[in-house]
Amino acid sequence: MSVAESPIRALLRHAPVIPVYTPASIEEAVQVASALVRGGLPVIEVTLRTPAALDAIRAIVRNVPGAIVGAGTVLDAAQVEAVRAAGAAFGVSPGATSRLLAAIKANHLPFLPGIATASELMAGLEAGLDTFKFFPAVPAGGVAMLSSFAGPFPQVKFCPTGGISPATAPDFLAQPNVICIGGSWLTPKGLLEQHDWPAIEHLARATAALRA
Ligand code: 3PG
Repeated sequence: MSVAESPIRALLRHAPVIPVYTPASIEEAVQVASALVRGGLPVIEVTLRTPAALDAIRAIVRNVPGAIVGAGTVLDAAQVEAVRAAGAAFGVSPGATSRLLAAIKANHLPFLPGIATASELMAGLEAGLDTFKFFPAVPAGGVAMLSSFAGPFPQVKFCPTGGISPATAPDFLAQPNVICIGGSWLTPKGLLEQHDWPAIEHLARATAALRA
């Protein structure tokens, strides 16, 4: 009998890279998500770093077919409930506290908690999780750290995020314990300010081809 994959792992398999996007407005969010989906990157992390974030998630869920929108920078139990209510398909956090882990479990929300050490990883395993954001990936040890985790934690998969660039992305994606990577380079400030949605679509298409 095969064991079913965890819901978060199944979601993350849809694309090699998750764009980490901080929305300035609802209108911008719908355009950005549409461009990313057209470019082949349907799994999007919308960070809760602006007042528009929850409404942006709602608007993407309603208006962008094919988008798998998650909420990022989820820091506490109240935000876990708020993003689930907004329709987010999953949540992401930079770290993991015991209260946050309990809220994830209580809300049945597919979740990618951040870890940077073996002890944080073990706390996540104790909470029943098997897939983590490795954050901040480059400052916390990069590919060498992921490779070191593979020995004692063969059952774990990671989405490294933080400091990864198009140039270093292939090295991360080549790690057997990496399911996908995250990065903000797909939604650069300049392109957002210019409303250059075709350029964002182009960036997404080039990035999606990293794991063709
Ligand atoms: C974040 O939460 O800001 C992400 O880790 C993005 O990191 P990056 O800007 O280095 O891609």
